[in-house]
Amino acid sequence: MKNDLFSRAQKLIPGGVNSPVRAFGAVGGSPVYMVSGSGAHLQTADDHQLLDYCGSWGPLLFGHAHPAIVEAVQRAAARGMSFGANTPAEVEFAERLTAMAPSLEMVRLVSSGTEAVMTALRLARGFTGRDKIIKFAGCYHGHSDSLLVNAGSGLLTGGIASSAGVPAALAAATIILPYNDLAAVDQAVALHGDDLAAIIVEPVAGNMGLILPEPPFLAGLRAAADRCGALLIFDEVITGFRFGPTTYGHLSHITPDLTTLGKIIGGGMPLAALGGRRNVMSALAPLGKVYQAGTLSGNPVAVAAGIATLTLIENDPPYARLDSLGRQLAAGLNAAAAKVGTPFHCLREGGAFTPFFMASPPTNLDQAMQCDTAAHAQFFNYMLKQGIYLPPSQFETGFISAAHTPADIEQTVAAVTDWHTTRP
Ligand SMILES: Cc1ncc(COP(=O)(O)O)c(C=O)c1O
Repeated sequence: MKNDLFSRAQKLIPGGVNSPVRAFGAVGGSPVYMVSGSGAHLQTADDHQLLDYCGSWGPLLFGHAHPAIVEAVQRAAARGMSFGANTPAEVEFAERLTAMAPSLEMVRLVSSGTEAVMTALRLARGFTGRDKIIKFAGCYHGHSDSLLVNAGSGLLTGGIASSAGVPAALAAATIILPYNDLAAVDQAVALHGDDLAAIIVEPVAGNMGLILPEPPFLAGLRAAADRCGALLIFDEVITGFRFGPTTYGHLSHITPDLTTLGKIIGGGMPLAALGGRRNVMSALAPLGKVYQAGTLSGNPVAVAAGIATLTLIENDPPYARLDSLGRQLAAGLNAAAAKVGTPFHCLREGGAFTPFFMASPPTNLDQAMQCDTAAHAQFFNYMLKQGIYLPPSQFETGFISAAHTPADIEQTVAAVTDWHTTRP
């Protein structure tokens, strides 16, 4: 590695990384350092080109450095990096976002998914006057205290059930249930319904690998929340604008009370949002008593990237293409495994996918945990050597961008086929 970047980083940055999954803990070896990206490809610091399926963990719907987004960012930056004051662009962004996702009657812009979800929970608690929340095992909602219990993503990778430093009282207010288990939800609502502020869910789970909601699950959550007066929060930091030009709530015809967004809406810049019912959102300061603020909230450079991304989505929606590429990839990967009899199942929705090393597709965290993580680690490292960069953990989601081509997918399927046939 050029100048031994990881050793230098480890001296100054805990674990050498600024976000734990980047440490390659689940797959071994030294993390890769990126210097640039263009379309579907990355350039590493040691001069390798990689075909990228990590996509910065989801934001890059149009691939790296899309010219329209880069130009919007450059123009906004030249006008000023931050004002800490209101801008015309944030009004335009709010208008565009709410037009594309009308269940967001009002929105508040923030800088990260964590901040959006943390605020949505505080708002749910402030609005209902209740403390408890239901979340689902393996769903990750950012790293705020209430939500770092039985979470997915980097905690799963690191084998951490709950972060140190989370006050016991907050952990106790978080009720953890299995994903896709409506009977468990009904039971919890019967027991805790009067104290329940919110049910929060990833409507398609992306942080224990990709796991799809079974048909009655989301509608059942809506009914359960209505029954006890809790708010339903869809955490759409991954799913928002991933599967269509709107939220997954709109695509599935289930209307949550609050929705959190991040990743894609910022086009690669730190931009996130929470939005939903007008009467709930009106409880946020300065209208209401639930406090939230941010020096860089609605940052004009990030908002410019967001507007450029929404414009690209409206002018040239990539979803049919992503679905077709995703179908090609999953079919190719499943066929390659079937040929040699490896227990394997690539789960996918649109252009999002997870290759699970197990015979049948998981529907919850317990099942996902049964997969062969050692085989996944071996697979990840083989693919990296072939110039294909996947998310460095079994419990993450890969993303195809609009910049990928059928030839890229063919190249990937060929590499996976080689791995299956040559592995010891
Ligand atoms: C569903 C979900 N919610 C919230 C977050 C937190 O977002 P951020 O990393 O921007 O804080 C993530 C991050 O991966 C996520 O996947």
